[in-house]
Amino acid sequence: MNFSSDNVTGVAPEIMAALAAANAGAAAAYGADAVTEGLVRRFSEVFEREVAVFPVATGTVANALALACLTPPWGVIYGHRDAHFQVDECGAPEFYTGGAKLRMLEGDHGKITAAGLEAAITGRGVVHHAQPASVSLTQASEAGTVYQVAEIEAVAEVCRRHGLALHMDGSRFANAVAALERSPAELTWRAGVEALSFGATKNGAMAAEAVVFFDPVKAADFAYRRKRGGHLFSKMRFLSAQLEAYLADDLWLRNARHANRMAARLAVGLEAVPGARLQHPVEANELFVELPDPVIRGLYADGFQFYRWDNEASVVIRLVTAFDTAPAAVDAFLASARRHAEHVPSVRRS
Ligand SMILES: Cc1ncc(COP(=O)(O)O)c(C=O)c1O
Repeated sequence: MNFSSDNVTGVAPEIMAALAAANAGAAAAYGADAVTEGLVRRFSEVFEREVAVFPVATGTVANALALACLTPPWGVIYGHRDAHFQVDECGAPEFYTGGAKLRMLEGDHGKITAAGLEAAITGRGVVHHAQPASVSLTQASEAGTVYQVAEIEAVAEVCRRHGLALHMDGSRFANAVAALERSPAELTWRAGVEALSFGATKNGAMAAEAVVFFDPVKAADFAYRRKRGGHLFSKMRFLSAQLEAYLADDLWLRNARHANRMAARLAVGLEAVPGARLQHPVEANELFVELPDPVIRGLYADGFQFYRWDNEASVVIRLVTAFDTAPAAVDAFLASARRHAEHVPSVRRS
């Protein structure tokens, strides 16, 4: 019944069991334990190359610390106007970079384009201007869409020509991998991504994300920045145990596939709801739906939870599915929406 966010979910049973197992006995602190050390090998297998991996507990700090490694204080970070790091991180990227400037770009369905990026890069070498430094793509995007491999490659090509680093906010990376059926390597370093905020919390972990660097040289400062920023956990094994269980037996992909399937089920069902209109293609686990106001009020009255996402032009709600969304909850939502829509005179079917 709760479609507010994939953050309202509990913890996947496999991850809870891994936390309980990690609780036995003592282990070396600050990441010197065997589980944390094993993560490098696990992530290197998943990404098909040697990577540097740093567990952290929030997506915000993953983004901010990764961007700080890629951007000097006088640098510019480019991203989509709706990007989480611009809208919802309380200035963390500016804080952790020591004052870098964010330059936000327009783009349909939550995605920037290579052409839009190219046009926005100005001021290189002009001492009065902040210097173009890095780009962050959100995969899956804040609009519930995904960047295709070719789109990432095109942005990376602009980055290469202008000497910019490419970061990916993969808070919902699993949903993107599941949606695109391309390998984690193809969606990241092979397409030109240098650092990834690899999310787990929204998709079954309690609180664990990993910052992955595909060129360990670029990660040289990360450990110091994380400690100085207060995010080096003494009992790191508990973060690492979550990540280990998340990757084991493809739990991360199984969970994401389920969430995506539930979103697709909602999208198909909404076609039969008079007055409902999707604002973006549904490609991962988020939907943005225009609905008549009485239908929204009816859904709330029936006990469904979700956020309104109104804009100047329309009445919109956001629905988010997750690894534990029950098909019956989706069907109940659709039945409720259909019933309330039938009572709205302007949208009643003739
Ligand atoms: C796209 C995206 N990036 C990053 C984050 C940050 O995660 P956290 O709330 O754990 O800091 C979120 C959280 O909603 C998100 O949606």
